[in-house]
Amino acid sequence: MAKLELKDVRKSYGPVEVIKGIDLTIEDGEFCVFVGPSGCGKSTLLRMIAGLEDISGGIFEIDGNRMNDIAPAKRGIAMVFQSYALYPHLSVRENIAFGLKVRKTPAAEIDTLVNDAIAMLQLDTLAGRYPRELSGGQRQRVAIGRAIVGQPETFLFDEPLSNLDAELRVHMRTQISELHDRLKRTMIYVTHDQIEAMTLADKIVLLRGGQIEQVGSPRDLYERPQNLFAAQFIGAPKMNIFDLENEFASLRNSLKLPLNAHHCGIRPDGFEIVAEGEGILVATVRLVEYLGNSCLVHAHVEGRDPIIIEQPANTVTQTGQRISLSANPSLVYAFGPDGNRIQVSGEQ
Ligand SMILES: Nc1ncnc2c1ncn2[C@@H]1O[C@H](COP(=O)(O)OP(=O)(O)OP(=O)(O)O)[C@@H](O)[C@H]1O
Ligand SMILES: [Mg+2]
Repeated sequence: MAKLELKDVRKSYGPVEVIKGIDLTIEDGEFCVFVGPSGCGKSTLLRMIAGLEDISGGIFEIDGNRMNDIAPAKRGIAMVFQSYALYPHLSVRENIAFGLKVRKTPAAEIDTLVNDAIAMLQLDTLAGRYPRELSGGQRQRVAIGRAIVGQPETFLFDEPLSNLDAELRVHMRTQISELHDRLKRTMIYVTHDQIEAMTLADKIVLLRGGQIEQVGSPRDLYERPQNLFAAQFIGAPKMNIFDLENEFASLRNSLKLPLNAHHCGIRPDGFEIVAEGEGILVATVRLVEYLGNSCLVHAHVEGRDPIIIEQPANTVTQTGQRISLSANPSLVYAFGPDGNRIQVSGEQ
């Protein structure tokens, strides 16, 4: 069991507060992802949970017990870092067993735990190799093995896949997901990659500047972003935002948006190319990126940076062409003067 609770948790380095009051509950067995731009405090928050950083203010509890002053080794937590930090002079098997040996675990028990981890992570044929003889993905599996054998209640991962190439990242992502299904332990995973966040998480915690912007399921964040920041951070390519107070005031009427809407957002797949004179916007095609199953049309609209429109792969558009665009009302979002989303008709 490990239900984690953070109550107004804060961190300051000297006069600078970098974690500004986090209230968060992570349920037992949940896969929680901290995501947000560089410097927003993801690693700091994770290290505070691990006990590697002091907590300057607030309360951190595991299963109702205050952890603020409990030593890292007594929190039932194991952490996997971006750098694998393996011992170069020890084999895969010895690396995985190392922590257990230090803790003087009986040899028979070490054997069982290490063999189980090796089998689970498909390291059987590599058990006798040294770290220098392994690929990045294999090294990261050894690092995960080292965490598993300690049988922690909670696993913390800090950008564990950032050093791997794109294909291996996808592969390791599914392995981490399967590991969570098998072990059913609480996991917190830090990433700045919103695709990793969307695919792995039960619960996403979106951070900015040491504060939480939004907490929810991947679907919540994508379909019901609370503000402009969440709307633009989740989803690739990004949501297109239009300023209704200036250049795009006409959209307020044509999209039937409330009077207090200051911005509206339309996801790339929310646009449709329609016959001339029928749309809400006219744009000039700048670039077409063919992706196989769809294409991304970068188009210039007077008064703003290019917008990105996702279209079926067989759409015929050419650079320089003028296109008329309409928007699917169920994919249009409105934001008030404070940047918070306001409900528009047709939306649940
Ligand atoms: N030891 C320290 N002393 C002073 N400031 C620090 C220290 N460690 C981190 N910070 C500051 O705290 C803020 C949060 O840093 P943190 O490493 O948690 O960000 P992050 O979200 O993990 O970013 P990244 O995605 O780049 O890893 C940053 O502004 C950073 O400069
Ligand atoms: Mg970090």
